[in-house]
Amino acid sequence: MPLLTIENLPGSPIMVPAGGTLLAAIQAAGHDYRHACGARGRCTTCRVRVLAGAELLAPLTEAEQRYQAAGRLLPAERLTCQARLPAGEVRGRVPEGGKLPHVIYLG
Ligand code: FES
Repeated sequence: MPLLTIENLPGSPIMVPAGGTLLAAIQAAGHDYRHACGARGRCTTCRVRVLAGAELLAPLTEAEQRYQAAGRLLPAERLTCQARLPAGEVRGRVPEGGKLPHVIYLG
């Protein structure tokens, strides 16, 4: 099964079920992750900075393309509510702006 490791969240790697989003997998693993618009691709708060394996993720969705074009999503970032991982392993980090105040992040 595809794996997602988020370096600054404890308990990684996270299994990503086929067809599911990264955000759904993160939440199913018991993590609280910022997602202000309810995973509708309208806010960018659910972003993850991808450190390795970006090429394994499904192509950018329309929402991600729109935010990248507007400069609101960096080239190394994906929206976890949009991105899917068909196979392989991806590593990333929760960027500073995506952190929740009550969650304890690693390193
Ligand atoms: S939760 Fe709003 S864009 Fe992903």
